[in-house]
Order: sequence, then C-alpha cells, then structure tokens
Amino acid sequence: MEYFLVKYLHVTCVLISVSLFIFRGSLALSSRPWRQWRVLRVAPHIVDTVLLGSALWLAWRIGQYPFVNGWLTAKVLALLAYILLGMRALGKNTPQSQRLPFFVAALLSVGYIVGVALTHSSSWGLL
Ligand code: HEM
Repeated sequence: MEYFLVKYLHVTCVLISVSLFIFRGSLALSSRPWRQWRVLRVAPHIVDTVLLGSALWLAWRIGQYPFVNGWLTAKVLALLAYILLGMRALGKNTPQSQRLPFFVAALLSVGYIVGVALTHSSSWGLL
C-alpha cells in the first residue's frame, strides 16, 4: 500500500516536472521572460527533489539500484541527459536558434525514461 502511494507520488512528480518543463520551454522558445515568475523558478526544484527522493525510496524498497541493475542505471543516465539538455534549452545564454533542438532532445530523453520505467529494460524489452 505504502509502496503504491510513493509510486503514485513519483509518477505525479514526473507529470508535473515534464509539464513545467514544457511550459517553461514554450515561453523560452517564444522569447517570453519566464524567470520573472518566481513560482516557475522555484517549483521545478521542489518537484524534482521529491521525484528523485521517491525514486531512491522505490529503488531501495524493491532492492534494485542504479549501477547494479541496468534499467535503473539507464534511468539515472537518461535523467542526467534530461537535466543537462533541459538546462541548455532554457539557459539564459543559449542562442534562441539552439533552444528548439535542445528542448526536443530533452523531451526525447524523458520519453526514453518513461519507456525504461514501464518495461524495466534499458532497451524497452526490444533486444
Ligand atoms: C525524469 C525521470 C524519471 C521518470 C520520467 C520516471 C518515470 C517513472 C514511471 C512512469 C514509473 C511507473 C512505472 C510503472 O507504472 O510501473 C516509475 C517507477 C519507478 N521509478 Fe522512475 N522515473 C524517473 C526517475 C527515476 C530515477 C532516477 C530512478 C532511480 C533510482 C527511478 C526509479 C524508479 C523505481 C524503482 C520505480 C518503481 C518500479 C516498479 O514499481 O516497478 N525513477 N518511474
């Protein structure tokens, strides 16, 4: 029961985190100054902290760990890619022309993570 509540929390944070990223990305792509809204600067950090905290708790509960179990290693590495690509997509110093490719690449990373989460396989069970 507790496990499913935390899993629900994890998935809810995923949905909020990706929605906030798409919202900020859309504003950045249309050259709107999204940083002027404090909530858009602060909320992603809170949501992402809960997302990661719940991820670690779930991993501990099922006794599977990044750098031990391949699918969790893939999730952590793709999460790193999502964070770095997302930072470039939204960055103050990123040229406007480069935002879209970084934005799309970040969304592809998070899509890959969801596939890994659902299949428990770094290859989505295709190999
Ligand atoms: C943006 C990053 C992440 C996304 C999009 C994501 C997505 C998901 C989704 C959709 C599920 C539910 C899967 C299902 O219904 O069975 C899930 C479960 C889970 N995630 Fe994540 N996750 C992320 C980060 C992480 C990280 C970094 C870890 C590594 C510690 C992790 C560990 C887990 C675990 C252990 C489960 C439970 C698996 C199960 O009960 O079968 N997640 N994640």
